[in-house]
Amino acid sequence: MRSIFVFLLILGLFKCALTEEGFCSAPSVLSTESKSKPLYWKVDNPTLSPVHLQDLPGFTRSVYKSDHALITPESHVYSPLPDWINTSGAYLVSPHMGSHFVMYLAKLKENSRSGLPPHDVERLIFVLQGAVTLTNAASVSQVLKVDSYAYFPPNFEHSIECDALATIVVFERRYTQLPNHVPEPVVNSTDKQPLLETPGEIFELRKLLPTSLAYDFNIHIMDFQPGEFLNVKEVHYNQHGLLLLEGQGIYRLGDSWYPVQAGDVIWMAPFVPQWYAALGKTRSRYLLYKDVNRSPL
Ligand SMILES: *[C@@H]1O[C@H](CO)[C@@H](O)[C@H](O)[C@H]1NC(C)=O
Ligand SMILES: *[C@@H]1O[C@H](CO)[C@@H](O)[C@H](O)[C@H]1NC(C)=O
Repeated sequence: MRSIFVFLLILGLFKCALTEEGFCSAPSVLSTESKSKPLYWKVDNPTLSPVHLQDLPGFTRSVYKSDHALITPESHVYSPLPDWINTSGAYLVSPHMGSHFVMYLAKLKENSRSGLPPHDVERLIFVLQGAVTLTNAASVSQVLKVDSYAYFPPNFEHSIECDALATIVVFERRYTQLPNHVPEPVVNSTDKQPLLETPGEIFELRKLLPTSLAYDFNIHIMDFQPGEFLNVKEVHYNQHGLLLLEGQGIYRLGDSWYPVQAGDVIWMAPFVPQWYAALGKTRSRYLLYKDVNRSPL
């Protein structure tokens, strides 16, 4: 009896070693792949999972509802960005949904250059792929690589240029003034930002902009290890535009539960119940727009 059991066990192990695509060998593919790839590569090279759904006619995970939207990469539609040169953009959140800001991905090609935002509109850019060169009115230039970002107060002269290929995510909104408070331009990178306290929560939090009153929004970078989740099931007046930079998980929006992965964008209207749990095998990191420091009235 015992020898048959041992035989079956050995046979089982042997089978596992032979299987290339089966359950036994599945994990290695993902982990070796992501180790050799640059940061945030999935945002620009998304894959639907499972693979057999990738080309299914008419299939999309995208959802658009009155108080939230999930916009997945197969739904992104690029067109030339007005006032920009050699750049195409995909607007993913806009006032048509009820937001007071726009969020878009911009793909800069060879010899590309940004246009300026409309009058009184502030802008934040975050580099996802490649590198861009920033130049201000005094002709001072700086190169921004992946994970770097820049904030331009309203009516601040600047240009973003690229001589190869780069992808950035852009947030713009009409600035809400507060007497005696003036926002300054900011250029920095995520890795230079300190971890902040998150009482009652387990995720890691960084903020890309100063928390002072001059700024009417902030961008949070939130990291979750697989299995970690938000403690608070938030319902609040602030709006959000989210880009999942790394990882996979489940996002709850209202009464819907969505499997999400790197490259997905979410719009959250004020007061939509929201909650996230990180799953999968790697860290989840997302970037989150949030309006702050202003009365909703
Ligand atoms: C766009 O890029 C092409 C190819 O690099 C270049 O020849 C062209 O001058 C650029 N367009 C403008 C308006 O600069
Ligand atoms: C970048 O941010 C860090 C942390 O907030 C700050 O100490 C540093 O001075 C900033 N760098 C620049 C160039 O502003």
